[in-house]
Amino acid sequence: MPLLKTLEYEVTTLTRERLPKTIAARTRRVYDVLSTIYPLSTYCFHSRAHKTAVDMAGIQDGMHVLEVATGSGEMFRRLVKANRNGKTVGLDLSPRMAARTQKQVRRDYPDAWTECQAVDARYLPFRDASFDAVVCCYLLELLSTEDIFLTLQEFHRVLTRRGTLTLVLIGHNAAMFNRLYRLAGSLAPAFWGRQIDGRLPELIESCDFRITAERELRQSGYPSRVVATRK
Ligand SMILES: C[S@@+](CC[C@H](N)C(=O)[O-])C[C@H]1O[C@@H](n2cnc3c(N)ncnc32)[C@H](O)[C@@H]1O
Repeated sequence: MPLLKTLEYEVTTLTRERLPKTIAARTRRVYDVLSTIYPLSTYCFHSRAHKTAVDMAGIQDGMHVLEVATGSGEMFRRLVKANRNGKTVGLDLSPRMAARTQKQVRRDYPDAWTECQAVDARYLPFRDASFDAVVCCYLLELLSTEDIFLTLQEFHRVLTRRGTLTLVLIGHNAAMFNRLYRLAGSLAPAFWGRQIDGRLPELIESCDFRITAERELRQSGYPSRVVATRK
């Protein structure tokens, strides 16, 4: 990774960083507690972005696919559906989220090769070049800038040559939503985190990914941004 570019980004960003440190222990507790009602939020705000991300990720049946931060598993089931003859691995920091995802996918797709465990995305327990595609929705907002770099580097490491990384992020093109989100983030940072600003492309490219497509969309007023990249 070009070190100078990384440092430049960090210096300019940290001056207005609203999440100077990842607060993983609190985040894990909050999402554990909310694991049973979290599917409602997916249904109301995230399902359109999930569908778009599956289409943009170029998943072909038979691939090795990793979803990072599965939440309660709605996107994970979409990925397994598209990859019934491949291997689909999921992980989430919250053990309850991971257990719920595992249980439901085994019930819905008993013949598919699936695995979901409680793992911190910053330290992936997989060998280099293990996956053809990595998908990650609404996680980066919960990580400090330093940990976003760490995590993107981990994604890069576990992807095969020319593997794809598809990210879904909270959009930032709705002024009123942004104001509300800032307020929510200051009240409960472990749950909401903060929006990542418009320089995300710089951040992704400094970790040696090339952006291949981008889409902005809204669901029930909630803006999302889907970014498809290739190693
Ligand atoms: C906003 S939710 C998004 C869930 C799901 N990806 C979706 O699209 O609905 C964020 C998820 O990231 C998980 N998470 C937060 N920090 C994490 C970390 N360091 N490693 C892995 N998962 C993490 C949380 O437990 C939570 O399930």
